[in-house]
Amino acid sequence: MIKAAVMGHGTVGSGVYEVFEMNAEKIARVAGQPVEVKYVLDLRDFSALPYADKFVTDFSVIENDPEIAVVAEVMGGVGAAYEFTKRCLQAGKSVCTSNKELVATRGEELLRIAEENGVGYMFEASVGGGIPIIRPMLQCLAANEINEICGILNGTTNYILTQMIHNGVTFEDALKQAQLNGYAEKDPTADIEGHDACRKICILSDLALGDKFDPDQVCCEGITKITLEDVANADKLGCVIKLLGRMVRNEDGTAYAYVAPHLIHKESPLAAVEDVFNAIMVNGNATGEVMFYGKGAGKLATASAVVADMLDCIEHRNNRRRILWGDGSKGLLRPLDTLQSAWYVRFKGKLADLEARLPVESAAEPAESVFVVKTHKLSTADMQARITALNACGEVRAAMRML
Ligand code: HSE
Repeated sequence: MIKAAVMGHGTVGSGVYEVFEMNAEKIARVAGQPVEVKYVLDLRDFSALPYADKFVTDFSVIENDPEIAVVAEVMGGVGAAYEFTKRCLQAGKSVCTSNKELVATRGEELLRIAEENGVGYMFEASVGGGIPIIRPMLQCLAANEINEICGILNGTTNYILTQMIHNGVTFEDALKQAQLNGYAEKDPTADIEGHDACRKICILSDLALGDKFDPDQVCCEGITKITLEDVANADKLGCVIKLLGRMVRNEDGTAYAYVAPHLIHKESPLAAVEDVFNAIMVNGNATGEVMFYGKGAGKLATASAVVADMLDCIEHRNNRRRILWGDGSKGLLRPLDTLQSAWYVRFKGKLADLEARLPVESAAEPAESVFVVKTHKLSTADMQARITALNACGEVRAAMRML
């Protein structure tokens, strides 16, 4: 019998317990013996639950119990979660997590500590919820140089955008529904401002390029400025608006990484990704494009990825997987200034002013004195200068990259 612990009994934590209960037989078959959750760590009162006797409030009970081989960290945040993860690893216990904030900001350090202590630190659930993406990046695509990653990485914002696009639901109502469904972060600012997607593209970039991409250095824009007007304009251009996390590798080994809403053509496979679903396109120099698709958030989908990592740690406890990336000192992140994109622009003013300042490919006037244009490709720095010039003679109400 293998003994495990779960730190945190929120949406994902309760899901981890549920998966262990629901799939006990299958889990025992994979692990070669039954796996029992011996402790659940949470400060809140869960005395009404049938497994109330499992709850502990003192972390050191888990830390000091030599029977505990593997721990799920599903607390979130970087305070106690960091401290407890480090201490579990130092105590010789493998840790598996869905905590993208912790992996993105302290992953390289925790992976090193895991390596020094001969245990695993695994994080399949940190990107894409239940979608297998970390393991394919580490193993199946290992022989490729990764040239590009482009993904819908946040279920909450994709759910909100889908509601806006198809049902004309307001941003606020769609957000409330996403929270009720358990998709959103505790503080949904991280979802709607793009920080959650930013952490995820950083983790994927760390894996792809072998050095840390710091979420604080990566340009990040969310969906709070998107209006139903832009949604309708995108539709007329044959596009939908999606929040994308992107990494584009340059020939010199540096890479652009950023999160921003984009207009993407309806024929793009990413355009068909709706509701809480995520999709990640990875372009390897040998495989070409491969795409991963599935539920990017939600209790059981995410929990199943945490439990699968726990099983992997159990199976490989005498032959642990080597996962490491650098501390960011290679300086691989290239500023976005030189990244070329076509742009969607919504401008209030005169068409002549707009055409004098932008290389317009096509233009429409959906409302009086409001023009919607698609530009030819421009670098980010060039586009920013042109927006400043346009704001001197009118008002740029929206500017988004097109793919
Ligand atoms: N809040 C996240 C999302 C949860 O909506 O995608 C999964 O990481």
